[in-house]
Amino acid sequence: KQLIIINGPNLNLLGKREPEIYGSQTFEDYLEVLKSKYNTVNLEYFQSNIEGELIDKLQEVGFNYDGIILNAAAYTHTSVGIGDAVKAIQTPVVEVHISNTFSREEFRHQSYISPNAKGVILGFGLKSYDLAIESFIF
Ligand code: DQA
Repeated sequence: KQLIIINGPNLNLLGKREPEIYGSQTFEDYLEVLKSKYNTVNLEYFQSNIEGELIDKLQEVGFNYDGIILNAAAYTHTSVGIGDAVKAIQTPVVEVHISNTFSREEFRHQSYISPNAKGVILGFGLKSYDLAIESFIF
């Protein structure tokens, strides 16, 4: 299976960004854990702080990969463009968040991704990504 994790803005700072919310592990370290756990899966990773680059990546992989695990971070709550891209592509998208966005500020309760996602996994810390991979395997 060919899967990709796409992370949006500020997720490159995981490990040092608000560790009480997002934990103290870097994503690069966690990715190694995921890659060895799911060593039969071809797991790619892309991160960008730029909205258009996230859309470009969704379009690039969205007609030939088996699954997309998308944490659009703050753009989740603002980006009609990323929402439209998720709708436009064929590859199923699982929306992921590290934190439980519904237990946080009101503006985080809105998602432009969810209406077109295959499913949503949130609130389990970095394990949310692990659960999203599981959803594509079993
Ligand atoms: C986040 C939640 C978003 O509200 C926030 O803007 C992020 C990270 C999460 O993974 O919990 O940057 O997507």
